Amino acid sequence: MQRSGTAVTERDESQFDGAADAYESSAFDIPVREHIEHHSIRRLCGEVNGKPVLDLGCGTGLYTRRLARWGADPVIGVDVSSGMLATARSIEDAQPLGVTYLRRDLTSPCACEPQYEHLTGNIPLILAVYVLCYARTREELTAMCRTVRTELKPGGVFIAPTLNPDYAVESPEGAYDDAYYAAYGFTLTAADSPAVNGSPVTLTMNFPEAADRKPVPALSVEAVWWSRETYAEALGEAGFTDVAWRSMEVSPDGLETYGRAFWQPYLARPHARVIVAR
Ligand SMILES: C[S@@+](CC[C@H](N)C(=O)[O-])C[C@H]1O[C@@H](n2cnc3c(N)ncnc32)[C@H](O)[C@@H]1O
Repeated sequence: MQRSGTAVTERDESQFDGAADAYESSAFDIPVREHIEHHSIRRLCGEVNGKPVLDLGCGTGLYTRRLARWGADPVIGVDVSSGMLATARSIEDAQPLGVTYLRRDLTSPCACEPQYEHLTGNIPLILAVYVLCYARTREELTAMCRTVRTELKPGGVFIAPTLNPDYAVESPEGAYDDAYYAAYGFTLTAADSPAVNGSPVTLTMNFPEAADRKPVPALSVEAVWWSRETYAEALGEAGFTDVAWRSMEVSPDGLETYGRAFWQPYLARPHARVIVAR
């Protein structure tokens, strides 16, 4: 990673700063995260043993830790939110996996610690789980993609689950259907119909009560809708030449626990899909 620039530029606050506990809960309470997202990302990442990997927009370090457990080394998690990083670091302190967390704004080139300078342009795999859909402007989207391209080794792969541009914004009758994903523990509320580039989309996660913990209040965050064409253009401007969209799939455990019928409406109109870019 580059050793130029400042650690964090314009963005000193993040809507995620107060969201760490709820976001950490979402990985296990929202069944789509555990049984579709986790399973699919594991498969897409493939063999990571001994590879340096960046987890960009790492949040509380959910995938940073998973990458380390899958054998990647070194693993560096990068995020702009001090609140999310505080939780990531406290988990690392309690159960060290040897991962490093850096506070950086991905819309600027990543300034890095001297020990990682040699990794700039040499990283074979970069993961960014639900991050590109938080680029607030077209310029930010391109800038994030440029940061990724700078860090990635030629021929390396960028894996980026993001808001599916074709997610279920409308019911079959044509009206908004905010409740489409309610059975899966969350809702998506679009500000515009049809969505246009830059349209806000509010994701609200609702957490079930559990006997062994305090109630977790619902969490709402505002993502941004970008069209497939815009993602492709931004990645192309950053130097990616091969951009594909991949669907996620349910784990065998998820099928056994919930049954195929439970997943069918989600899989028909998934809220997220994965960009795989080289
Ligand atoms: C929806 S959360 C996902 C967190 C984590 N990847 C996960 O799946 O658990 C999005 C994360 O991206 C981070 N993020 C958004 N824009 C960013 C930027 N410009 N630079 C660095 N991090 C950013 C947020 O702070 C937040 O932690």
